Amino acid sequence: MTEEFPVWWYTAPAIIRTFLEAYDFSGKVIVPFATSGGSRLGRTAETLQELVPAAAVKDGKLLNGRLNAGELKKWADSFEN
Ligand SMILES: Cc1cc2nc3c(=O)[nH]c(=O)nc-3n(C[C@H](O)[C@H](O)[C@H](O)COP(=O)(O)O)c2cc1C
Repeated sequence: MTEEFPVWWYTAPAIIRTFLEAYDFSGKVIVPFATSGGSRLGRTAETLQELVPAAAVKDGKLLNGRLNAGELKKWADSFEN
């Protein structure tokens, strides 16, 4: 699955954490991607991983309009088994 959210105070908003706590993500691969006002993802991946220890949270990416379709496809393809 992919998980999209804005960056708030250097991490994902509380509603994203609530969402992850509410469902079973065992064995899932989670790829975070985010918008932000300027800061990077910070400790987002580590924070999310702590909430879903049975899932694999990958390093995420900021999608703030500076990537082209080719770069996005290459990034997305890198998660295929
Ligand atoms: C409460 C709050 C905290 C925020 N904290 C950050 C932050 O730490 N770093 C950052 O770059 N942007 C921060 N922002 C800006 C949001 O990341 C930005 O508004 C969001 O990416 C816009 O997404 P949208 O275009 O989907 O509305 C914050 C916004 C809000 C409302």
